[in-house]
Amino acid sequence: MPFKKLKPQVESILKQGELSIDDRLNQVCNLLRENISYYNWVGFYFKNGDKNELKLGPFAGEPTEHIIIPFGKGICGQVAVSNQNFVVADVKAQDNYIACSIHVKAEIVVPLFVNGENVGQIDIDSNVVDPFKKEDERFLEFVNKKIAEILS
Ligand code: SME
Repeated sequence: MPFKKLKPQVESILKQGELSIDDRLNQVCNLLRENISYYNWVGFYFKNGDKNELKLGPFAGEPTEHIIIPFGKGICGQVAVSNQNFVVADVKAQDNYIACSIHVKAEIVVPLFVNGENVGQIDIDSNVVDPFKKEDERFLEFVNKKIAEILS
């Protein structure tokens, strides 16, 4: 399903005020994973209170043992400090990478800003090499922007 069709669906999921934030984010994870063939694991990490570490939030896909990720470690931890999108075409070429599954070949992490502050990120793992394009970045920025609206 193209991103254009998914955008209004993301918005309607997030508008369900009767559901908890986590339930809504969980639905977003499932929507993306089920409709974008190369999104094999979709999850959120958020800053863990006032600690310099990330904590796993809602996700869809295989459970990961990486519940806590210190700032600076792995792709996720690097995005927590760089505030920049990180697109990894081939995880084998990365030194500072935390492997979650032997099947994962590529990863994209896009930071989530609330009132200009980097509070977390969306993290996608793919089982194919080099699947992420500029359109994925724009789409995931849109998703995070909409989430920021319900978090602020
Ligand atoms: N690969 C990530 C760790 C999180 S898992 O992909 C779910 C990283 O290097 O930060």
